[in-house]
Amino acid sequence: MEQELLKLKQNAEEALAQVAGADQLEAFRVKFLGRKGGLLTGILRQLGQVAPEDRPRLGQLANDIKLGLENSFEERKTQLNTAAGAVAGGTDYSLPGRYLPFGKLHPVTQVMEEICSIFEGLGFAVAEGPDVETDYYNFEALNIPKHHPARDMHDTFYVTDSILLRTHTSPMQARIMERQDPPLRYVVPGKVYRCDSDMTHTPMFHQVEGLLVDRQVSFADLKGVLTSFTHKIFERELPLRFRPSYFPFTEPSAEVDVACVICGGSGCRVCKRTGWLEILGSGLIDPEVLKMVGYDPDTYSGFAFGLGVERIAMLKYGIDDIRLYYENDLRFLSQF
Ligand code: FA5
Repeated sequence: MEQELLKLKQNAEEALAQVAGADQLEAFRVKFLGRKGGLLTGILRQLGQVAPEDRPRLGQLANDIKLGLENSFEERKTQLNTAAGAVAGGTDYSLPGRYLPFGKLHPVTQVMEEICSIFEGLGFAVAEGPDVETDYYNFEALNIPKHHPARDMHDTFYVTDSILLRTHTSPMQARIMERQDPPLRYVVPGKVYRCDSDMTHTPMFHQVEGLLVDRQVSFADLKGVLTSFTHKIFERELPLRFRPSYFPFTEPSAEVDVACVICGGSGCRVCKRTGWLEILGSGLIDPEVLKMVGYDPDTYSGFAFGLGVERIAMLKYGIDDIRLYYENDLRFLSQF
């Protein structure tokens, strides 16, 4: 009888697992647990014929099996009711979940944050300044007096005669130096504005300014920091070119070009067939600028640079038109 009971238990469990609806469940109940003609009842009826010494043990086993099957039956009934009710109530929990679109940072913001974190790793602090700036900080404090020809390079949006949208992040050089004594190392990320638009220029773009002032800072320090930065941001040792240039607030000055990643340096429409793309302007801070904020240029020297964030992002991701960043096409933006 013991074998018979265990076999019945196994068959009943297998059958219950196959039950798929209310009708089949009722058929299961009648077949295994039914009072009249149910298989378990049939075995229990034979209990009276087994040897008296085996009766308590087999009685206990039969009872355990009965209770176990009744519990499993109730559980299965609840499962089937819940599923049926859920579908009937308009919700089918077995359907795959709906895709919820989630936002991401704009690729330019991502690259700007990466630039700042690389410089933070080199010991620079991060500062921010106003987009609407005074003529004084944007030009005069940078050794660009009124009527200086360098003002023409900036294609400025003026708000009033003395207030403008900053044309670069360099105004923060004087703002930082005025409030703090050397040594100092800062990067300043932010938006800048120029009346300029083509494949490599947009009227609003982003720069990260760098500023370091200390004793005995040389051009070699500037080259070292910028070379180390470019290798980190492009994750490989792209060829770099320091090209002599002119900024009224640095002397000597250099623009830095990176080998064009779009064409590999052979020349394309993005690099204007030169094989190089300019990513930043830089130089040693002009002693006149140091004097204007009250620093002694015989004691202190420093370097500064201004990086074009969109240009770096273009090179990093192989994008050939800067305007794509600002057309708000999600097919483009969601790739980053
Ligand atoms: C400047 O703005 C200087 N303030 C940089 C500087 C800082 C020099 C500190 C010395 C010391 P420039 O105008 O070259 O320089 O701009 C710097 C970078 O911004 C460029 O190399 C380029 O990568 C980017 N850039 C300039 N104009 C645009 C534009 N219209 N659209 C997108 N990126 C631009």
